[in-house]
Amino acid sequence: MVLLFLFVPLATRSVNDTDRLALFAFKDKITQDPLRVMSLWNNIVHFCNWTGVTCSPVHHQRVKMLKLDSLKLVGSISPSIGNLTFLTGLSLTNNGFSGEIPEELGCLLQLKTIVLSSNSLEDQLSSLTKLVYFDLSTNHFTRNIPPWIGNFSELGSLILMENSFHGRIPIELGQISLFEDFNVAINMLSGTVPSSLYNSSSFRFFSVAGNYLEGRLPPNIGVALPILQEFHGGLNNFTGPIPASFSNISGLQYLDLPNNSFTGLVPTKLGTLQGLINLNFKNNHLGSGHDEANELNVLAYFTNCTNLRLLSLTNILVVLYPSSFEICEN
Ligand SMILES: *[C@@H]1O[C@H](CO)[C@@H](O)[C@H](O)[C@H]1NC(C)=O
Ligand SMILES: *[C@@H]1O[C@H](CO)[C@@H](O)[C@H](O)[C@H]1NC(C)=O
Ligand SMILES: *[C@@H]1O[C@H](CO)[C@@H](O)[C@H](O)[C@H]1NC(C)=O
Ligand SMILES: *[C@@H]1O[C@H](CO)[C@@H](O)[C@H](O)[C@H]1NC(C)=O
Ligand SMILES: *[C@@H]1O[C@H](CO)[C@@H](O)[C@H](O)[C@H]1NC(C)=O
Ligand SMILES: *[C@@H]1O[C@H](CO)[C@@H](O)[C@H](O)[C@H]1NC(C)=O
Ligand SMILES: *[C@@H]1O[C@H](CO)[C@@H](O)[C@H](O)[C@H]1NC(C)=O
Ligand SMILES: *[C@@H]1O[C@H](CO)[C@@H](O)[C@H](O)[C@H]1NC(C)=O
Repeated sequence: MVLLFLFVPLATRSVNDTDRLALFAFKDKITQDPLRVMSLWNNIVHFCNWTGVTCSPVHHQRVKMLKLDSLKLVGSISPSIGNLTFLTGLSLTNNGFSGEIPEELGCLLQLKTIVLSSNSLEDQLSSLTKLVYFDLSTNHFTRNIPPWIGNFSELGSLILMENSFHGRIPIELGQISLFEDFNVAINMLSGTVPSSLYNSSSFRFFSVAGNYLEGRLPPNIGVALPILQEFHGGLNNFTGPIPASFSNISGLQYLDLPNNSFTGLVPTKLGTLQGLINLNFKNNHLGSGHDEANELNVLAYFTNCTNLRLLSLTNILVVLYPSSFEICEN
């Protein structure tokens, strides 16, 4: 009895009781916990010292971060999480959470980072307009990419890879002005990439690889995306030429466009990009098709790209030199 009296906080609902109760409600929705992480979430230890919980030094003993990655947790995400008023980050990657992402998360005005990758989650949250980092990769989303993400005006990273997102990439995403990192690889997206998206000049990483996308890349892409480091567009059905303006992106490292329907000649100006690591155009319809010697000469333009680890240009090279088709250092 004495112990209980000492350790169980009084019934008066102080402010920091809100967070404690919300965390207990979160715990209640966890149905499997083989590593027994949640057994340490009890009244003997202050919740600021619970596994995965970080409190804010500024707002005394209010939860700032909840990070329970790769802990084999199974269950749903309790709506009570919406009571953690000072939460800035939520990361539950690589667990077995399923069901809907609670709309109550939308009440958390300080929330900047959500990482819910590698779970089995569904559904939406449209009011999180202050989000900076949004990662829903490797879940089971089968819907369209929601246009309301375009209202996340401070978004820097949108990572939706390895789901089954359908339909077109929404035009609204072009409204995001600070976009640095866009990854929708390995989904079932179709149609064209909206031209508004190529106007987000802050992109460093852009991957639409492994979808059913079509259309041409804009001729001025290299001018529109001046600080791009990686562009991955392989395994789609892009047509038209590979824009020579990629050679204007001085920091470009990866230009990865295999298995599309690109036509025309390999832009030899790309050979001026000293930072190139990977240039992959294999399985397209590049080259004139009747001037093999000239097409081999294309290689000579890339002799100054000393960082290149992979260079796959045209199918004709495959035919003539199967073993040099991929030229790798080491
Ligand atoms: C969350 O806050 C609401 C409103 O204050 C309250 O009614 C509810 O009981 C709280 N839920 C939890 C799990 O703490
Ligand atoms: C958390 O644990 C540390 C070390 O045991 C202790 O110093 C600190 O007071 C505890 N924090 C709270 C909020 O109880
Ligand atoms: C974006 O926000 C505006 C203003 O709140 C709203 O009118 C609009 O419907 C939102 N757009 C989407 C696609 O949700
Ligand atoms: C891209 O930006 C330019 C210059 O700001 C503007 O003229 C053009 O209309 C924009 N294009 C799209 C598709 O948003
Ligand atoms: C790719 O696009 C071209 C031109 O639109 C079309 O003829 C072709 O059938 C498409 N290929 C596939 C695999 O969808
Ligand atoms: C792009 O690069 C070419 C040379 O490769 C140069 O002539 C052109 O002026 C550059 N364009 C811009 C907008 O920098
Ligand atoms: C890429 O294209 C080649 C040639 O058509 C094909 O053999 C290969 O399976 C394709 N790769 C993938 C991952 O689909
Ligand atoms: C490689 O760099 C050297 C020295 O800057 C230059 O003379 C040569 O033209 C370049 N070769 C190619 C193919 O760009």
